[in-house]
Amino acid sequence: MSKLIYPPSPPMQPVIGHLNDFRRDPISFMLNSANEHGDILMFKVLNKRIYFINHPDYIKHVLHTNYKNYVKSPGYKPLRLLGGMGIFTNDGEEWLRRRRFYQPAFKASNIESYTDAVQSNTEELIANWEHQNLERVNISMEMSKVTMAVISETLFSTRIDFGSDLWNNITYAFDWVGERALRNPFVIPANWPTKKNRRFHKAVAALDELIYRIIDEKRNSKEQVNDLLTRFMNPEEKNLEPLNDTELRDEVMTIFLAGHETSANVLAWSLFEVGRRPDIQQKLYGEVSQLGDRKLTYDDLHSLVYTTQVLNESMRMYPPVWHLGRQNLAEDKLGDYVIPAGGYVRMSPLTIHRRKDYWDEPEVYNPDRFHPSKSDSITPYTFIPFGGGPRLCAGRNFAMMEMVWMLAMLVRSFKFESEGGLPEIQPGATLRAKNDIHVNIRPRK
Ligand code: HEM
Repeated sequence: MSKLIYPPSPPMQPVIGHLNDFRRDPISFMLNSANEHGDILMFKVLNKRIYFINHPDYIKHVLHTNYKNYVKSPGYKPLRLLGGMGIFTNDGEEWLRRRRFYQPAFKASNIESYTDAVQSNTEELIANWEHQNLERVNISMEMSKVTMAVISETLFSTRIDFGSDLWNNITYAFDWVGERALRNPFVIPANWPTKKNRRFHKAVAALDELIYRIIDEKRNSKEQVNDLLTRFMNPEEKNLEPLNDTELRDEVMTIFLAGHETSANVLAWSLFEVGRRPDIQQKLYGEVSQLGDRKLTYDDLHSLVYTTQVLNESMRMYPPVWHLGRQNLAEDKLGDYVIPAGGYVRMSPLTIHRRKDYWDEPEVYNPDRFHPSKSDSITPYTFIPFGGGPRLCAGRNFAMMEMVWMLAMLVRSFKFESEGGLPEIQPGATLRAKNDIHVNIRPRK
């Protein structure tokens, strides 16, 4: 066999390779390395070689064209400590079986039926802020709570009590998992009784209790509701085995996590950017106020074009799922490089979204770049906030509906103002702000 030729690597330390770079500041490290080396490069962590691809053709090849040759990489393993073998971390036949449950729940007619819950929960949030005369809010937390309420109501037909420690538990568990994924392989085993591990297991136990309660309530309910949880238990499709208890638990946990933290992040970053850019806020308000004070309708979503642009720009700059990992089953070739079977391939929405040769002034927040007249100028697979190929985010239409609706309602009711500079980004399981995002709010009336 001829000797393998590897792509270029940023300078590294003997033995440990790029381990410390990833530990110190993975975002800057990945952005700088991608800027310097371009399309494909190699990271080394101890003896593990990671092919980092940063070109739309290679990304398309892995996610779409040759997707059958790729499974989720071991980097997703820490997520399994939380979401078990749910759809997000599963592969092959079992992944396909689970994906078939999701398709009907996210078709257009069902998305429309979820709008009532988005409307009522956002109304409640607004009334709450007004009632308390709030002038400053932790927008990360507020968006997280409201998106979680929407997910529970629409997909499981249940209302959740946020007076509990729910938000703390979810945030802690998610951060713990994110940190493990990044610090892998230098992590203390999850079953060692350290303070952090004990806190994590306590959080998971509390979440499990909630999830099993939701499942039990559904089992005992006489109401005929055709939500996602019901479909998991009684699939409409023939030849689709219902999910057993463990599978149900894993899937509900997966949706809880995948379905709220992501949208909440995008809304929080959007309101932060809107709050420091009066020109954008004015334009957004101009669009939204044209609808008057009435309740939004599903059809309004088509006219909220600029609102959608703002959200797309936030997902470009701060993609919640900021890196994707795969492992190839059989040998493959990317550009000039042969990837031996079992290779680690990584790509990052964050770095491809900021490539200078595909995006004008990528470091500038500018929703105009997503104006519909410019859609042809966006190269496929350079904008991948929802991933791509058959494993494209199952909830993307749901998420877009929810985010456009909420952003429109919030900007119609309040003026937002952000103080200080860009919050420090915490690259965990999703791309959150380190100490949450706080914004000032002022009612418009
Ligand atoms: C702005 C919001 C969201 C973003 C940016 C986002 C992003 C993503 C990305 C990038 C993936 C693919 C990961 C990979 O290939 O490794 C994914 C998968 C997934 N997302 Fe989302 N997501 C969002 C909202 C949602 C919502 C609201 C739901 C559910 C209601 C959801 C459910 C899922 C599921 C079930 C998968 C796994 C799909 C599969 O493997 O077949 N997501 N998401």
